[in-house]
Amino acid sequence: MLILAIESSCDETAAAVTEGRKVLSSVINTQIEEHKIYGGVVPEIASRRHCENISAVVEKALDDAGKTYADLDAVAVTFAPGLIGALLVGVNFAKGLAMSLGVPLIPVHHLRSHIAANYIEAPDLKPPFLCLTVSGGNSILTDVTDYTEFKMIGGTRDDAAGECFDKAARAMGLPYPGGVNLDKIATEADTKKYPLPTPRVEGSPYDFSFSGLKTAVINTIHNATQKGEEIDVPVLAATLRQKVCDMLIHRTLAAAKELGRDTLVLAGGVSANSELRTRLEEECKKADIAFYRPPLCYCGDNAAMVGVQAYYEYQSGNLAAEDLNAFATLPIDYK
Ligand code: KG4
Repeated sequence: MLILAIESSCDETAAAVTEGRKVLSSVINTQIEEHKIYGGVVPEIASRRHCENISAVVEKALDDAGKTYADLDAVAVTFAPGLIGALLVGVNFAKGLAMSLGVPLIPVHHLRSHIAANYIEAPDLKPPFLCLTVSGGNSILTDVTDYTEFKMIGGTRDDAAGECFDKAARAMGLPYPGGVNLDKIATEADTKKYPLPTPRVEGSPYDFSFSGLKTAVINTIHNATQKGEEIDVPVLAATLRQKVCDMLIHRTLAAAKELGRDTLVLAGGVSANSELRTRLEEECKKADIAFYRPPLCYCGDNAAMVGVQAYYEYQSGNLAAEDLNAFATLPIDYK
């Protein structure tokens, strides 16, 4: 089954041609350079660039795969969650294309597709498994019982892990996208030099909280500035990274043990974080849990993962009609 997948939930216009779990082509047009000057994504600019780029990105995905519109069996698109104006560009393009070709339209939840990024290079991976999905807008812990069956068992009470990294990085004077650059320059953590708090979420063992850490980093920087002291950015970055990873890793492993899951999957943009990848792998090895993480090229937003998840959504009969809408928020276990 040949699927053309489209992704436009944030600042990447992406298209891919997939067949089951196989990726025939994957094209990503990123707007990072343009948003960099504002220190973050400007939604209106993102929508406009998607409008300008989407036709060429789709054509290139077809060309790279050596396919034409006539070869397609379905069109898939990210419809939620994300920036509403940005999502609408992909959704409307996909609707028009599916209607004109007379093929099914498959709506794909953005976080489900991030999880599916793991299927691309791991032919043996199949549900059930526990999944930690960490991105710029979301941080959730999900029990994945089947390819299209999800049960959210925990999540952040405030900021997403990526948001915490991005805002802290901005306060440290690092360029957008902050999380990536913070990870690159971080050296050794020193909790004595920078005593950041250990966040607690009382009574909810699988929930996370990151806004306190973000505020603590900002306050540390303000206090130093007022005293005329210089911040050791690589050390502060490493200390924050360690604290964020501590919270994610401890709670995720506790959930895996409690639920008796022997497979753990990492997903979302923050899954590219070097410390999170290595420490989770080590901890899983110790606990005799099989560990999967997406290849680095599929950690960020892309359409290949949308096409792969769409294949399973199609098999479950999850199709959309011409009235498909986009949604800025939608839980992963929506019905
Ligand atoms: O999944 P994604 O590409 O977009 C969303 O759907 O949100 O995630 C983007 C987030 C950003 O917050 C970015 O800073 C973060 O992922 N990120 C990282 C790393 N690479 C990307 N955070 C920490 N370390 C990284 N290496």
